[in-house]
Formats: sequence, C-alpha cells, structure tokens
Amino acid sequence: MTARIIDGKAFAGRVRAQVAEHVERLKRDHGLTPGLAVVLVGEDPASEVYVRNKGRQTVEAGMASFEHKLPADTSEADLLALVRRLNADPAVHGILVQLPLPKHLDAELVINAIDPAKDVDGFHISNVGLLATGQKGMVPCTPLGCLMMLRDLHGSLSGMNAVVVGRSNIVGKPMAQLLLGDSCTVTIAHSRTRDLAAVCRGADILVAAVGRPEMIHGDWVRPGATVIDVGINRVERDGAARLVGDVHFASAAAVAGAITPVPGGVGPMTIACLLANTLTAACRAQGLTEPKGLTA
Ligand code: GUN
Repeated sequence: MTARIIDGKAFAGRVRAQVAEHVERLKRDHGLTPGLAVVLVGEDPASEVYVRNKGRQTVEAGMASFEHKLPADTSEADLLALVRRLNADPAVHGILVQLPLPKHLDAELVINAIDPAKDVDGFHISNVGLLATGQKGMVPCTPLGCLMMLRDLHGSLSGMNAVVVGRSNIVGKPMAQLLLGDSCTVTIAHSRTRDLAAVCRGADILVAAVGRPEMIHGDWVRPGATVIDVGINRVERDGAARLVGDVHFASAAAVAGAITPVPGGVGPMTIACLLANTLTAACRAQGLTEPKGLTA
C-alpha cells in the first residue's frame, strides 16, 4: 500500500484564492480592506524570511500589510506602546508579533497585550480559553490548517482516534482541542510517553509536532492511518542541507492511507490560515457574517 500524498501547497493556494475572493467582495460591497500588522523585533534571519512571505501573501490576497521592524534592543515599554497603537488603529484587523522575541522581552506579556479580537495567531490567553471551552475566538494558524486538511480528506472526523505527538502551546495543545471539538478521541503524547510507538499505532489520525527529525517511523503507523507531519527540521544529508519532518516519510508513506510531505505539506497552510484569520477578524470587527470553511 502506498499513501495518498496530501498536497498542502495546492490546498494552501485554494485557501488563499478563497480569501482573496472574500476580500474583493468586502471591498466592493462594504468599502472594507482587511489589514494585517506584523511586528518583527531584531534580525533573526528565519523570522525575516517568514515576515517577508507574510507581507507578500497579504498584499496578493488584496489586504493591507503593515510591517513594523524594530531594533533588537527595543524596550518592552516601546513594544507595548506599539501594540497599543495597533490595537486602537481601525485599519488594523490582525496583529502578529513574530516569535521568538529577543530574550530581554517577555513574550507572554506582549502577546497578552494584543486585543484578543485582533490576535490572529490565537496565542492570547483569552483565545486559548475560548478554544478550550468551545467558544468562538481566534484559532492558531498551523493547527487550523491541519484541521482544514483533515476535514477535506475525511469529511466528518467524529469518533476517530487522534494522537497528537507534542504538547506545545502553538501546535500540540490547540491541535488536540480542535480534534476534540470535531469529536475525535484525543491522546496527547510527548517525549515522556511510555511506549510511544504503541500509542501512535492506535491512531486513525496521527499528528506529529515534536521537532525531532524523522522520529516517527512506518512501524509506528497503523495501516491506512492519516499522518499529518508538522515538523520542519533542517538536517545535513550527504553534505547537503535538507528539510525533513518529524515523520520518516518513506517508511510511513508505505503504511499510511494519506500523509503530508515536508516540505509542501502543512507548512504552506500556516500563512494561508493567517490570511483567513485576518479576514475573519475584519468581518467580526464590522459585524459582518464571517466566511464559511475558513474557521474552526
Ligand atoms: N514564529 C514562527 N512561527 C510563528 C507563528 O506562527 N506566529 C508567530 N507570531 N511567530 C512565529
């Protein structure tokens, strides 16, 4: 058996096209242009690449992009003042503070200073609580992208056994909440889980988000299972730099029913969902009905 390869790049392209269509309609019928502000502190090269891609895709979707690049030695007071200004700016519907922040800045404090209605990352403590209680809020982009792909593949997820490997606040925990919201039986496994291989073999849906290159092998995968690989790990192979996931792709693809590749799987969905969240936030801010299929 060979798994169906889930084309995240194509899926993300369709999500972005849907977002762009809604943006066009909002401009035409309501004179509303959704706006996303991205704040980058310091010069982390990976973050600069992300921020550039976010800005470009925001503009391509027809939305307004506001980039704020601050020096690495920016004070907490100055960063908080910028967040407050963006909170008060009616042209800004989404605010994203790029992580990681330089060490002298308290990321939790800064994230929780963002207006929860503009928190398109879904990291604010209010949004975490809303997700946990099944209320409407902003949902973290990467898990939302995974959920969209799973719904597209399976329709209903009700009653399926889902195992999430990894317990981060950004992916593992919100992913588990979303799967629970779709009536899966959810296990959160992690580095201390006893007999992790056996736990993984119980999964109809296996989500890998641990940040350990190729940790999950094919013999951990139940035949026919859906494998979602959130990992993006830079490794050196035969003298060349390569990106690999948390799943050993070749062995897992021989067993799984469907699997996301790395790159080209979950990765492209994250920015697509950021655009979707910005659109959703803009609609809610104006009291307009939010688009279907782009939210949890
Ligand atoms: N750094 C890497 N990924 C992300 C993300 O999704 N949001 C934020 N704010 N920072 C990140």
